[in-house]
Amino acid sequence: MTSASRVRKAVIPAAGLGTRFLPATKAMPKEMLPVVDKPAIQYVVQEAVSAGLQDVLMITGRNKRALEDHFDRVPVTEQLLEAKGDAEKLSAVQHATDLGDIHYVRQGDPKGLGHAVLRAKTHVGNEPFAVLLGDDLIDERDELLTTMIEVQAKTGGSVVALIEVEPSQISSYGCADVEVIEGEGYVRIRQLVEKPSPEEAPSNLAIIGRYVLHPDVFQVLENTKPGRGNEIQLTDALQTLAARDGDGGGVYGVIFRGRRYDTGDKLSYLKAVVTLACDSEDLGPDLRSWLTSFTAHLPA
Ligand code: G1P
Repeated sequence: MTSASRVRKAVIPAAGLGTRFLPATKAMPKEMLPVVDKPAIQYVVQEAVSAGLQDVLMITGRNKRALEDHFDRVPVTEQLLEAKGDAEKLSAVQHATDLGDIHYVRQGDPKGLGHAVLRAKTHVGNEPFAVLLGDDLIDERDELLTTMIEVQAKTGGSVVALIEVEPSQISSYGCADVEVIEGEGYVRIRQLVEKPSPEEAPSNLAIIGRYVLHPDVFQVLENTKPGRGNEIQLTDALQTLAARDGDGGGVYGVIFRGRRYDTGDKLSYLKAVVTLACDSEDLGPDLRSWLTSFTAHLPA
């Protein structure tokens, strides 16, 4: 396969300990927290499959068995729903299983996002692939991954997704210094810095959890020393690729201005759930009218 091959595989790192959500995540993976009526991870797998990536590899760890169970069949429940004639619930239960071809590998030592992505090397092989981080949900009406896959095919390099953030927020993200390419809807990355202070940050463009990567990233990750937080950072490996010319080199950015829901901390998670529930066809109308009267009585 060449670097301009069609992207077929998605890698979803899901080994994080979910400490921000303790004690809710004491015995349950954070990826299983419900967002309206589905676990957060299901939105991410759905997004990958909708972009044509049927082959999904999850990087998991200890206490993550519920993820495998969720995407597996549950014969007893299915038989029960079938006997009751509850076709709607039966199809909701089967939907997660039918989504795609899901594989699992454990991360072992929690040595950072770059280390987690490196665990995908054997499964991915020598073809470009996508990485989706579970803390970011992208609205299904706003295509991002498909655009990034097109940019990867056109440039032959690697592609990150960027959003503009308030300068005070940049220290929560990888930050990109970019160069506009005349006549193109994407930018070229000059420099990447993992979680800089607002003073050090070269811009207010933050990396969000969607990547389409050239397979050369694996060899770079193998040689990437621990960086911020003493972890092997994907951002540092991409900085190496950004500085490299020729085949496999070059990193590009797609600036996303659509709807993104951050589920990475408690407050953002609550906002994401309320926003998506207000938008949903069945719950939305009642929830919106309840919220209107609820907020009217909130103390200022
Ligand atoms: C990771 C990356 C960071 C990126 C972020 C997006 O950080 O290291 O560059 O901006 O994901 O969500 P984390 O949020 O895992 O600390």
